[in-house]
Amino acid sequence: TIAAVCARRVWDSRGLPTIEVEVRTSSGARGQGIAPAGASTGRREARELRDGGDRLGGCDVIRAVELAISVVGPRITGIDVHDQEAVDAILARMGPEVGGNTTTAASLAVLHAAGASRGIPAWAVLDAAPRWMPRPQIQIIGGGAHAAHRTAVQDFMVLPLSPTRIADAFFEVAEVYRAVGAVLAERGPRRGVADEGGHWPEVTGTEDALDLLVAGIERAGLVPGVDMAISLDIAATQFASADGYGVGDRSYDTADWIAELDRLCRAYPISTIEDPAGEDDARGMRRAVATLGDTAVVVGDDYLVTDADRIEAAARDEAVQAALIKVNQVGTVTGAARAVAAARANDLSVIVSARSGETEDVSVAHLATGWGADIVKVGSITRGERTAKWNELIRIDEALGGLPLAPAP
Ligand code: PGA
Ligand code: ZN
Repeated sequence: TIAAVCARRVWDSRGLPTIEVEVRTSSGARGQGIAPAGASTGRREARELRDGGDRLGGCDVIRAVELAISVVGPRITGIDVHDQEAVDAILARMGPEVGGNTTTAASLAVLHAAGASRGIPAWAVLDAAPRWMPRPQIQIIGGGAHAAHRTAVQDFMVLPLSPTRIADAFFEVAEVYRAVGAVLAERGPRRGVADEGGHWPEVTGTEDALDLLVAGIERAGLVPGVDMAISLDIAATQFASADGYGVGDRSYDTADWIAELDRLCRAYPISTIEDPAGEDDARGMRRAVATLGDTAVVVGDDYLVTDADRIEAAARDEAVQAALIKVNQVGTVTGAARAVAAARANDLSVIVSARSGETEDVSVAHLATGWGADIVKVGSITRGERTAKWNELIRIDEALGGLPLAPAP
């Protein structure tokens, strides 16, 4: 049984405050969860509770911490820690009052406490015998809302294809990251790294960044599209408007924009493409699946917001081919588990993802493994809040005796 709940303000990778919840059981087991935070958030996501006002740009979470202690604690104390669904039903009802950040941290804390009380890791609470490790999708170049909109496209990632083990996948991606860095160093000054640790280069646009990725893959001695594919998160909601898509000084209507992405998917070895259209552009998403869905897997993030009903509907409409899963978009582990189940029931691939604002919390590694995700996405191969997750996946793989990677899409 849940015996005590406490909470505190901790800090995320952007130097912003976030909430950590700690759950203790009657047997003395303990679990912790920290809420991550997005920058390119969808408007249908669970709402975070932030204090507002002048301090820290209104981002403080003093109120959320207070409510976790005074409201969430009393209402979940006494419930069986192994009954995640019962706890999450209560958290989901309280969400509008206490914030999705508060419920996310509490829900994750309960999952970890449930594992601790049985002496097992969180992944094993979800599935005692996973059949594979999720394939890592790793950022090499950051753009969009994570790099002052230097490029319209948000994430230039790679997806290792030839490795069959996760440790080898990380090794190859690290070589590519270094190789892109070397190419950039030859080209001139760099801006540093973007929010998720990817290079923040001076580029002229999307194709320049794609050329850099291809050059890096080749310089690392790998064959683009054979050993290492490219994955993009367009995050098109960020530059979508009622009139279409604005990129640099150009403006595209939906049909022209998807035609442009289709051209890129045929010119480069792109295996997955996330949010090609904005969160309200159902026609654009359907058009993407119909035109480029045979060369790249169309992934829904802002369009689906980890909502089982939206996933169901989007699958029926043929508006997506894979679902991105982020616990804090829906606010509870159970809500996200339902989204995973809806995706699987509709033959969609599952990508479990971190946020651009992260911490040392490694829950996403456990969720991706325990839910049997096809792909796991947590940013680049640099920076502690990212490597915390990758390194945890290495430990999980070891604990499982070494599993094959999930089949590539
Ligand atoms: P976000 O970015 O956490 O800023 O939303 C990640 C993503 O869009 O997938
Ligand atoms: Zn996204």
